[in-house]
Amino acid sequence: MSGGQTIAVEVTAVEQITPLIKHFTLAAVNGAPLPAFSGGSHVVVVMHADGRVHRNPYSLLSPPNERDHYQIAVRRMEQSRGGSHFMHEQIRVGSRLEIAHPVNLFPLDKIARKHLMIAGGIGITPFLAQLEDLRDRGVPYELHYSVRAPEHAAFHERLSSHGADRLRMYYDSEGQRIDFEGLLTSQPLGTHLYVCGPAGLIERVVETARACGWSGSHIHWEQFSAPPVGDAFEVFLARAKIGVHVLPDQSLLEAIEAAGVEVPYLCRGGVCGFCRTRVLEADGELLHHDHYLSAAEKAQGKSIMPCVSRANCKTLVLDL
Ligand code: FES
Repeated sequence: MSGGQTIAVEVTAVEQITPLIKHFTLAAVNGAPLPAFSGGSHVVVVMHADGRVHRNPYSLLSPPNERDHYQIAVRRMEQSRGGSHFMHEQIRVGSRLEIAHPVNLFPLDKIARKHLMIAGGIGITPFLAQLEDLRDRGVPYELHYSVRAPEHAAFHERLSSHGADRLRMYYDSEGQRIDFEGLLTSQPLGTHLYVCGPAGLIERVVETARACGWSGSHIHWEQFSAPPVGDAFEVFLARAKIGVHVLPDQSLLEAIEAAGVEVPYLCRGGVCGFCRTRVLEADGELLHHDHYLSAAEKAQGKSIMPCVSRANCKTLVLDL
């Protein structure tokens, strides 16, 4: 996917659901049904803000069988590069946006006998549509959802409809912690584990699962990284024969796109590998922020994921 394939949508509802999270409902401008998707999918929202274009991925929250609208939730990031602030401050009912077609990089395993889900904070979002899928299909599941405090528990009411035996809440403010080891050693054979949330939570759950003997094929996580801000730098695109200046609050991918060069992408969060780009020359440090390249590949410095990674080089030449 690249910037060309988008759907024009209108915002039909906006709701502040926690002090930091807003919920948006989107419908196609032409009234047509939106593309089908499965639980765990995300869409990239294209925002035109102050002469800049932001493309941010957000999980689809709406029940997958409802195609007259999509729902997304946007957490206001303190260190926003512009996208989350734009959504929180500029977008109202009636605003128009473009979205890319849904992509699922965090699907449910089709033959799992049970689904065990662990969410932290805004990491609840990919699970909402998946839970609807599972309830409809009658497949066993349980969700463990950890948040700072009760007022940060987004979608609590909607989640409560799944019943106390399928939903367990944990509030940091009340000293409640998920007992990862207890949970991961008491699951029936054939259970698949899914985790989404802050990096520390994902690492801890995945490490504990491995230590408890879980097979890698039964462990799934989603960790999109927001492109970090950093120092400005220059890059030369060898095939296009143009130099590009990357601003401190702009991702390398956004800067390349703004210069009129398309790079394939799916996640824009350092996960899918679609934007992998060959580095032809670099006289300094590549600042890898992705979860796709191996440690050895990062050390070799032959590739970069421009959606999240930056560079600290005087000369950086990419095969674009
Ligand atoms: S677009 Fe997915 S890793 Fe860059």
